[in-house]
Amino acid sequence: MSALFEIRGLSKRIPSAYESTGERVLLNHINAIIREPESIAIMGASGQGKSTMLRILACLDSADEGEMYKRGASCSSMEPAKWRSQVCYVAQHAVMLPGSVEDNLRTVSRLHGTEYEQSLAERLIERSGLAHLPMKGPAEDLSGGEKQRLALVRSLLLRPSVLLLDEVTASLDSISARLVEDVLMDWHREEGTALIWVTHQADQAVRVASRMWTLEDGRLTEDGNRDHYIDSAENEVIGSVRER
Ligand SMILES: Nc1ncnc2c1ncn2[C@@H]1O[C@H](COP(=O)(O)OP(=O)(O)OP(=O)(O)O)[C@@H](O)[C@H]1O
Ligand SMILES: [Mg+2]
Repeated sequence: MSALFEIRGLSKRIPSAYESTGERVLLNHINAIIREPESIAIMGASGQGKSTMLRILACLDSADEGEMYKRGASCSSMEPAKWRSQVCYVAQHAVMLPGSVEDNLRTVSRLHGTEYEQSLAERLIERSGLAHLPMKGPAEDLSGGEKQRLALVRSLLLRPSVLLLDEVTASLDSISARLVEDVLMDWHREEGTALIWVTHQADQAVRVASRMWTLEDGRLTEDGNRDHYIDSAENEVIGSVRER
């Protein structure tokens, strides 16, 4: 069967006043394969392109070269909205849709033509530590951490196959962050959703991920037993590792 998710030859250049060429290669021919639902952490210094990469994977930004495949279907062969509901990006800085907390939960289902699962929404809201929120109150009035969790619940309601999590606990205190980790790991196990977490916290990466990737100088490498991944066809991950 085709891999759950595959990235082939992804490159992105951005304008740069510091380079003689006038551009910087932010992502340099990145390849990766996720064969089955896994939980993967992506680490890397600020400005290395982690958010940009996730946004490209979710078809929210464009690459200069490369393609993504979900179960063998290419991103470019799919309606962007359909791709985004299946390969769903949860932003570093959550943006609320207009209206109330409940509107935010319902609108996403409406936009994607899926049924709104109220009992699931209520359960996820409660488990994410948001039971205190007035459902009819304006979403814009929520705190940063509340917005981040509401955005996450909103995304889960789409039941994506791949969830791209961009520092989703960055605005949270440690107790709320652990709640969110638990919600996501339970979801991962129960629903079989692949998780790709960008995080700056090594302890979080160790808790939630079975594989760890590092983005540095445009290259994606796998931490841990690197040679194993280079040699193993079963776990072909990073083409760029081989080129080093
Ligand atoms: N479309 C674009 N045009 C110009 N520069 C861009 C564009 N997209 C991203 N960048 C630049 O690319 C770099 C990487 O940004 P990105 O937000 O992806 O980094 P990051 O690894 O997520 O950083 P952080 O850990 O701070 O969130 C930044 O310098 C950013 O300004
Ligand atoms: Mg970022």
